[in-house]
Amino acid sequence: MAVSPEASIPTLLIIDDTPANLGVVAAYLEDKGFEVSIANNGEDGIKRALRVRPDLILLDVMMPGINGFETCRRLKAIPETRDIPVIFMTALSDTDDKLTGFEAGGVDYVTKPIQIAEVLVRINTHLALRAAAEQLAQRNRVLQEELEARRRAEMALDEANQHLSAALKSLESSQERLVRSAKLAGLGALVTGIAHELNTPIGNALLTASTIRTEVQSLRSQMAGGGTLRRTSFENFLLLVERGTEMLDSSLRRSGDLVQKFKQIAVLQKSNQRGEFCLDTLIRDATMSFQLQTGEIPFAIEFDVDPSIMMESYFLTFEHVLSNLYSNALRHAFDDPAAGRVRIEGTMISNDWVRLVFNDNGKGIPLDRLGNIFDPFYTTQLGQGGSGIGLYTVHNQVTQLLGGRIDVESTLGKGTRFVIDIPRVADA
Ligand SMILES: Nc1ncnc2c1ncn2[C@@H]1O[C@H](COP(=O)(O)OP(=O)(O)O)[C@@H](O)[C@H]1O
Ligand SMILES: [Mg+2]
Repeated sequence: MAVSPEASIPTLLIIDDTPANLGVVAAYLEDKGFEVSIANNGEDGIKRALRVRPDLILLDVMMPGINGFETCRRLKAIPETRDIPVIFMTALSDTDDKLTGFEAGGVDYVTKPIQIAEVLVRINTHLALRAAAEQLAQRNRVLQEELEARRRAEMALDEANQHLSAALKSLESSQERLVRSAKLAGLGALVTGIAHELNTPIGNALLTASTIRTEVQSLRSQMAGGGTLRRTSFENFLLLVERGTEMLDSSLRRSGDLVQKFKQIAVLQKSNQRGEFCLDTLIRDATMSFQLQTGEIPFAIEFDVDPSIMMESYFLTFEHVLSNLYSNALRHAFDDPAAGRVRIEGTMISNDWVRLVFNDNGKGIPLDRLGNIFDPFYTTQLGQGGSGIGLYTVHNQVTQLLGGRIDVESTLGKGTRFVIDIPRVADA
């Protein structure tokens, strides 16, 4: 560190037992801006060095008590003084002493009698060297700290990452569990629903069969032992059998329908129903057959289908989709079916895609249920004939067999709108 006005004043320690010529050197150095401290022997020198922490030490070699080399060794052994550069002042100029000096930890030497200008140059050189070394060490420390900070940040990041991926895993597994339990709940609901639905017709059929059997037995016992059968009894019996078989017929038919509905869920295989058809005609035919199945349709139906649309697709599947949407409108849409209206639109939305829109002006579907209606077994009419299979099947048929997509929009009190987009020509 050269002497400069901004820098703190550098302190020099001179350790020498012959102060005769020291006075001149000290005065000269003080004049050059140094703070000069003096000690007369090695041990005092070490004590003073510890106290004033000089920036540099000028050290005499030949001294009573511990000599300069030993003093230097001790200074180098003390952590607080280890880094202070030591310049030996020696009257001896043979190589051995110079070597011993360097080995003891000195950085340089000057020979006595002292050349004052030379000493100054050497002092400044070593102060500058030391300052540079300190700067380097400081930079090193900063770098080290930065490295450490980075390492810590990386570790923290790593840890956070691990937490995150653990959280993700547990989320995934709980989601899987949820899906599984929702499916199971759906399945349970379906089984309960089907059992409930089948219970009534099967119970009726059983009751009817046992009533007929009882009547037959009572007729037999009247005839046994040569008794005669009155005409009215026989006519009553015939009436009972007639009504009973009607009841059996309708109960078994109802059971069969339910089983049929249950089977629809599996109807997804491609069959040979693919062919060319006019969309408008197909929609009208499907409407007709729905009407035949259900009797009079209570709500009004409007068509707005582009009659030029010719499709090449799975027409029976198409009919099935329409029939499901009709039966949902009938079953779910209207409080007062007589005031209800269904409107079916068919348009081309591009060269190859057809849009079919099925609107009703019924009560609509609440927003929190809208996301569920295509789920398997989702129904709001459990135990009242609902199975929750209808829209699930429709969804599968539209997206898989017909190769399209289906969306629903609904406004409470205004109605529901199913939008079905499908390719005009289905994949074979
Ligand atoms: N047009 C509609 N208007 C109001 N709600 C409807 C309509 N269509 C379907 N839904 C609702 O979607 C549910 C699921 O329909 P779906 O899968 O056909 O089962 P299901 O008819 O056996 O109940 C119905 O229970 C009903 O709550
Ligand atoms: Mg339905």
